[in-house]
Amino acid sequence: MKIAVLGAGNMGAALVKGWLRQGMPAEQLVMTCRNPAQHPAIGVSLLTSNPDAVREAEVVIVAVKPWQVVDVLAEIRPTLAAGTLVISVAAGVTVAQLREQVPSSVAVVRAMPNTAVALNEGVIAIVADEQDAVERARKVLAPLGLVVPTDESKMDALTALAGCGIAHALRFLRAAQCAGVQMGLTAAQSAEVFAQVMAGAVALMRQPGASAEAEIDRICTPGGLTVRGLNELEQAGFSAAVVRGFLGSLPEDKR
Ligand SMILES: NC(=O)c1ccc[n+]([C@@H]2O[C@H](COP(=O)([O-])OP(=O)(O)OC[C@H]3O[C@@H](n4cnc5c(N)ncnc54)[C@H](OP(=O)(O)O)[C@@H]3O)[C@@H](O)[C@H]2O)c1
Repeated sequence: MKIAVLGAGNMGAALVKGWLRQGMPAEQLVMTCRNPAQHPAIGVSLLTSNPDAVREAEVVIVAVKPWQVVDVLAEIRPTLAAGTLVISVAAGVTVAQLREQVPSSVAVVRAMPNTAVALNEGVIAIVADEQDAVERARKVLAPLGLVVPTDESKMDALTALAGCGIAHALRFLRAAQCAGVQMGLTAAQSAEVFAQVMAGAVALMRQPGASAEAEIDRICTPGGLTVRGLNELEQAGFSAAVVRGFLGSLPEDKR
C-alpha cells in the first residue's frame, strides 16, 4: 500500500514516523511540501509536487493547514484515481466539505490524530460518509494508536480531549516538574519520575473495570498526606480548571 502525505509539518511527519516505526517500508511513503529546505529529513522522499505524490498512492493524507485544504484538493483532483482513500487531518474541515472537493469515486475520511502517533501511542478520531471508508481508514491508521470511529457531532469534543489533550497532559507534567524542582530534585529527574508516574496511572486505569476514584482511594490513608495534597489541589480549583481548559479548547461557538 502506498501512502502520500501532503504536508510535511508537525502532523504529517508524526504520522510518517509512526508508520516507519511500525516497520512500513520507506518506499511506500512519500511526503510533500513547498519548501523542502525547511524540513528535516525523516527517511522518506519529500516532493514538491502534490499531483506527482498522489499518482501511485492508494491512500492520500491531507496534512496542510485547514485553510489550505481546498486548494490542495483542487490541485490533486485530476490525478486522483477511482478508489483512492483521502484522509484529511485538518481541524474543523468536515466530511461534507471534503466530499465537495473530490470525485464520488474517491473515499473521504476526516481524522483527528494527536502527535503521539509518532510513537504509535496516538488517538485518532475518524468520521466518514460510508462504512467502507471507516473500515479502510481504521486499517491504515491502526498502527498509529487507538482509532475511534465517531460522527461529526463528537469531533470537536474529541479534538479537544485527544488532539489538544496531549498538550493539556504535558502541562500537568510540566507543573509537577516545577514542584519537583522546588522540593530540591533536578528538572530532569522530576520529569523522568513524573512521566513514569503518569505511565503508572495509565496502566492502573487500563485494568478491566478500573475507576480513577477507586485507585485514588487506595492511595489516600485517612488523615494522610495524599488526601491533604489532593484537597489543596481542589481548593486551588484543579478539577474545575481542567474542565475549563478542555472547554477552552473547543471552537468559540461550541463552549
Ligand atoms: N499539530 C498537531 O498537533 C495537529 C493535531 C491534529 C491535527 N492537526 C492538523 O494537521 C494539519 C497540519 O498541522 P501542522 O501542525 O502539521 O502544521 P505545520 O507544521 O505548519 O505543517 C503544515 C505543512 O504543510 C506544508 N504545506 C503548506 N502548503 C502546502 C502545499 N500546498 N502542498 C504541500 N504541502 C504544503 C508545509 O510546508 P511548506 O511551508 O514547506 O509548504 C508544512 O510542512 C492542520 O490542518 C492541523 O489542523 C495538527
